[in-house]
Amino acid sequence: MPTALITCRQLQGGFERLRPEYEALGVTPILPALDGQRLDSVAMASLVDGVDAVIAGDDEIDSSVLRAGAASRLRAVIKWGVGTDAIDTATAAELGVPVFNTPGAFADEVADLALSHLLLLVRRTHRLHAAVVDGEWPVAEGRSLAGLVAGVIGLGSVGSAIAKRARACGVEVLGHDIRQPAGDDGLAGVRRVDLADLYAASDVVILACALTADNRHLVSRAAFAAMRDGVLVINVARGALIEEAALVEALAAGKVAGAGLDVFEHEPLPAADPLRAFADRCVFTTHSGSSTAEAIERTNRIATEILFDVLGLRAAGPLVPNRVA
Ligand SMILES: NC(=O)c1ccc[n+]([C@@H]2O[C@H](COP(=O)([O-])OP(=O)(O)OC[C@H]3O[C@@H](n4cnc5c(N)ncnc54)[C@H](O)[C@@H]3O)[C@@H](O)[C@H]2O)c1
Repeated sequence: MPTALITCRQLQGGFERLRPEYEALGVTPILPALDGQRLDSVAMASLVDGVDAVIAGDDEIDSSVLRAGAASRLRAVIKWGVGTDAIDTATAAELGVPVFNTPGAFADEVADLALSHLLLLVRRTHRLHAAVVDGEWPVAEGRSLAGLVAGVIGLGSVGSAIAKRARACGVEVLGHDIRQPAGDDGLAGVRRVDLADLYAASDVVILACALTADNRHLVSRAAFAAMRDGVLVINVARGALIEEAALVEALAAGKVAGAGLDVFEHEPLPAADPLRAFADRCVFTTHSGSSTAEAIERTNRIATEILFDVLGLRAAGPLVPNRVA
């Protein structure tokens, strides 16, 4: 009887609706208690023993976890979501443990959040709301969305969904990606430029690319220096794409007028993090770009279909499991 370790919080939360299918196919689920955003490699290495497959969130699956799993009976790792930066895909490939993800499963939802950050930053709506609740009646002069120039870094499913929304609001969109986009019509009208031109021309820089071994701290001190004075920066991808110490300096200097961050170098954001000093000019959310009921249900379904397929229990039908390693 195959066993599936489910460390993804969202799938655990919606598991009762799927339990009958797991039971019908004879899959034993293991649903460990979760108290943080992610399990570290020590916890994962102890849980993976005797398990046939893992459906993970952002849990740390390094070589120690993969080796412990492969020495037992691990046959696959399935990432609930897109970013596989917490998985050592090179070791997985070396050990012959396939890694899958669920691409595009919630691109629209992450793009909605990016647009929400942009709207809040340009109109300061959240600050006005807080002031009115406090009994005040301020008027903030914002900026018009139409006519702004947005530079989107990463034109995959999230980046192209952001571009589509921004263009619908009259924003001129520049884009940069290290690969050619795959013909998504969300990219129609997006002018592709190199990073230097994107930084020089953008009123708002939006990060929507994968975090890889090559682009940690892509947005460094030098990158901030190359941006327009008073630029807005939005990151819905991964915290480590931005050198946060450099962002703090750029906020303090007024080089960056405001930042909308769903992801951080350290999550949850530490209580003493210097970014908090700029809260009045920023929008902070809790790595929750994918967090809608519809997106969670959809991704729970996709991850489960991939699981049943890789265990050889039920073909995934029209869904082709996306193998990333
Ligand atoms: N905030 C959230 O809750 C949330 C949810 C989903 C995804 N994400 C993050 O968003 C990222 C993008 O998701 P997606 O669905 O668009 O993935 P995707 O695989 O469709 O696209 C990622 C794109 O990034 C590009 N890229 C990689 N390195 C780059 C670089 N140095 N410069 C420019 N482009 C680069 C790739 O070529 C690719 O086109 C994910 O990798 C994940 O880390 C965050």
